[in-house]
Amino acid sequence: MRKPLVAGNWKMNGSRDANRELLSALQAELAGVDSVDLAVCPPAVYLAEVVDTLSASPIAVGGQDCSDQASGAYTGEVAAPMLREIGCRYVIVGHSERRERQNEDSVWVAAKYQAAQAAGLVPILCVGEQKEEREAGRTEAVVSEQLDAVLDAAGVESFDHAVIAYEPVWAIGTGLTATPEQAAEVHAFIRNRVAARDPRVAADLRILYGGSMKADNAAGLLAHDDIDGGLVGGASLDAANFAGIARAAAGAGE
Ligand code: PGA
Repeated sequence: MRKPLVAGNWKMNGSRDANRELLSALQAELAGVDSVDLAVCPPAVYLAEVVDTLSASPIAVGGQDCSDQASGAYTGEVAAPMLREIGCRYVIVGHSERRERQNEDSVWVAAKYQAAQAAGLVPILCVGEQKEEREAGRTEAVVSEQLDAVLDAAGVESFDHAVIAYEPVWAIGTGLTATPEQAAEVHAFIRNRVAARDPRVAADLRILYGGSMKADNAAGLLAHDDIDGGLVGGASLDAANFAGIARAAAGAGE
């Protein structure tokens, strides 16, 4: 039985005051919600403070990105061991916004994934197709390329200590959610692709959905067996909305 995970990707949002307010509202909203793993991924500068604020809470903390290098002359980058040292449990790698804006390719993302695991972090590996790619019938080809780069570099067993997030790029921040059927189809495809290498690893692997997930559409998505939680952007900045998704996930996992 896979325990659902709902992770909030705050992206480049927040301030000390806003974070404190959001976290205290979130802790109040989420009191008593169990049967679901929870995490928030704030911008790097706030991570240590958020870890501190959540020290007595079951909500884990994750970074939004890490370097593929452990240390050295890499100006502006944050190393996975640093994230681990300050108390992060997760780190997002390969988010489409970074694949696009920072030109991160799948080989680079695989190196980040390996660096994260070497530091003891659980990578949340993002995969997903652009609108034009879906329209051209290339969704499976695109997702396969993104997934295979990591499977080839790190091995299928590495997915015992990782999470995948399927995030169709056309659904991110657009209000256009994939229908539960569209999402479930790709989730099943991803699980089958991992199962081709190791069925046991695939059966235990958590595959999250991301892309305009909200409290009012979460239950429909999470009702599908292959959808094990969410990577939530916009709605994670609103405590009631995020908690609604967490409750839907807890309900679906029971
Ligand atoms: P969204 O973002 O929920 O705002 O669409 C999801 C993500 O990019 O992780």
